[in-house]
Amino acid sequence: MRTETERLILRPWERRDLEPFAALNADPEVMQFFPAQFTREETAAYIERVATLTDQGLGFQAVEEKVSGDLVGVVGMAPVKPEFPSSPGVEIGWRLAKAFWGKGYASEAAAAWLHWGFEELNLDEIVAFTFSGNLPSRRVMERLGMSYDPADDFEHPSLAEGHRLKPHVLYRLKRADFRPRAGRS
Ligand SMILES: CC(C)(COP(=O)(O)OP(=O)(O)OC[C@H]1O[C@@H](n2cnc3c(N)ncnc32)[C@H](O)[C@@H]1OP(=O)(O)O)[C@@H](O)C(=O)NCCC(=O)NCCS
Repeated sequence: MRTETERLILRPWERRDLEPFAALNADPEVMQFFPAQFTREETAAYIERVATLTDQGLGFQAVEEKVSGDLVGVVGMAPVKPEFPSSPGVEIGWRLAKAFWGKGYASEAAAAWLHWGFEELNLDEIVAFTFSGNLPSRRVMERLGMSYDPADDFEHPSLAEGHRLKPHVLYRLKRADFRPRAGRS
């Protein structure tokens, strides 16, 4: 997927992304709702792994700010891993560098991905999930028009019993409920 929104370029990863993406993944505040920060090697391996998914039209890709050419972060879609309750399915997710929070960039990029998923890939439903306490991420899901049902709450399957990030919430968006301009302010 390669496309432009009003303020962003959504594109495959490039070599120049490694430095800023490694810095983003090593930032404790950005990673507070993830089990651990990434080392530089883990960031490089992550890029390799998610880039290969793009063969199916899915993947977690780079987001670039048009005005500066800087890497904003990662937004994309991927098959839900089989151990998650919403599998089989497709999830959407995002992670932005702190300098780009509060500008509506996550919603703007995610809206373009939803459009791709429903209009080009003909998906019936796209889900998103996060730690229940990750309110900024939940706000993005709500701004995109995704709906939440407490009956879908689940415990993250690969985290140890009692881990602080285990409680998760699930948001869903059906193709019929997708409004192409959701996420825009
Ligand atoms: C989750 C995350 C991407 C949300 O980022 P964000 O900047 O809050 O989200 P958006 O890009 O949609 O920005 C929305 C905010 O920008 C503001 N904004 C400013 N200009 C805007 C515009 N033109 N359009 C829309 N919103 C705009 C809005 O007021 C909104 O703030 P509010 O909801 O408090 O009113 C970010 O907090 C993050 O990367 N967190 C760390 C990683 C993470 O937890 N990822 C999710 C794992 S599941």
